[in-house]
Amino acid sequence: MLDNKIADEVKRFGQSHLLRHWDALTPKQQSSFANQLSSIDFKLIKRLFEGDEAQPDWAALAAAAGPPDAIQLCEASPRIKKEDAIEAGRKALANGRIAMILVAGGQGTRLGFSHPKGMFPIGPLSNRTLFEMHIDRLRAVMKRYHVSIPMYVMTSSATDADTRLFLSDHDGFGLASDQLRIFCQGSMPAIDAKTGQILLSDKGELALSPDGHGGLLAAMAKNGCLEDAGDAGIDHFFYAQVDNPMVEICDPLLIGYHLLAESEMTTQVVRKTFPLERVGNVVSIDGKTQIIEYSDLPKEVAEKTNPDGSLYLWAGNIAVHVFKRQFLESVQHSAEGLPFHHAKKAVPFIGNDGVMVKPSEANAIKFERFVFDLLPMAKTALVVESDPAEVFAPVKNAEGAATDTPTSVKKAISNLHRSWLEKAGASVAETARVEIHPNWALDAEGVRERVDGSFRISTDTYLQ
Ligand code: UTP
Repeated sequence: MLDNKIADEVKRFGQSHLLRHWDALTPKQQSSFANQLSSIDFKLIKRLFEGDEAQPDWAALAAAAGPPDAIQLCEASPRIKKEDAIEAGRKALANGRIAMILVAGGQGTRLGFSHPKGMFPIGPLSNRTLFEMHIDRLRAVMKRYHVSIPMYVMTSSATDADTRLFLSDHDGFGLASDQLRIFCQGSMPAIDAKTGQILLSDKGELALSPDGHGGLLAAMAKNGCLEDAGDAGIDHFFYAQVDNPMVEICDPLLIGYHLLAESEMTTQVVRKTFPLERVGNVVSIDGKTQIIEYSDLPKEVAEKTNPDGSLYLWAGNIAVHVFKRQFLESVQHSAEGLPFHHAKKAVPFIGNDGVMVKPSEANAIKFERFVFDLLPMAKTALVVESDPAEVFAPVKNAEGAATDTPTSVKKAISNLHRSWLEKAGASVAETARVEIHPNWALDAEGVRERVDGSFRISTDTYLQ
């Protein structure tokens, strides 16, 4: 039986079509469907559809946007010395003040892989998965600083079960059970773009999808992660996304800049190579750091240049952040206030006649929150430029696409590891691919400690 309260809500908010197939469901299906329905905030969905949520005027914001106040790579005398930052970052790591957040709740639609993206093999020679690559690196950082660094992994209903099973089958790739904390983000229903009706993916199932990486804050609060971290003496979180195997996990330089600038949220950026590159634009508007998505940035603003010809809005978001725990605590109550972004997508659904419809064009609106919408909420935010060849190669698209494919990512990893060897004086044959396991060397400095000019690589080599 359906709870009267839910049945009333469904009717009151014009969603009665959801119950059209109720009588055809088994008692078990009815019970699980009733559960889903009770988790839906129908009032919010109505508000989102009717557009009561103030949508930003992107054109006006873009017109007012300037480059962010950033620590740039080319600066001869940055306001914080690099050596000081590295020292501060190393100290915080060694003192156990840092934890890692890895968001892994996305559906990976563009990649078209049938498991969570974290299970995708990406090691150029080792075929290690994204999860394994990140954890190997984190464990090497722990070893270097003789410290335990907890890893908070955010999953979603799309990835949770598979991820838990995979990580447990592999004994957490060596992480101790108190170092690995898996928690699940929330979901949002897709609605018909014309009518606002919530779509069914089956007769007794809503078309739900994860509520965006911005669901992180609510999910951490709900699962007690912030409290738990506070109890463990964690003051800052290093945040990364599962799909970028090049992220320099717990980079002491980035953490050090964050600490010395007394920043509440620090974000790593790369210099854009062309005006409408598909990255979020990190900008400053009225003294607040924020991000304007490439799709919201008018072409003429994106194309604005400085007198030397370089791009005026140059900073591209690569979704690597450092958060002060107290900042997340202070804004967690406004988690419900992080805006929802609307995305038009083609979403298959069960029609009123009970038959599955597979639209070829966008028919639905999906709602997602973005973690970077926390940036303007920070009293102090810092932007730090990095070299993309050293930190950024996300796996986004299936083979055959122009960018961000498994092949291009493997090449980027191999090129980076080659550059570490070459900087240390080694010679690597042009045709050879290389991969370095973080236990062998964590970075260029680690390679320098092991290698000299006599070191030669002539064929594909995995140094582990
Ligand atoms: P993307 O926005 O690139 O999405 O996520 P995706 O799921 O990887 O791929 P597409 O767009 O469906 O093809 C960037 C990062 O944010 C995480 C993803 O797991 C990825 O690490 N993410 C995204 C979440 O954790 N939850 C979400 O709801 C969305």
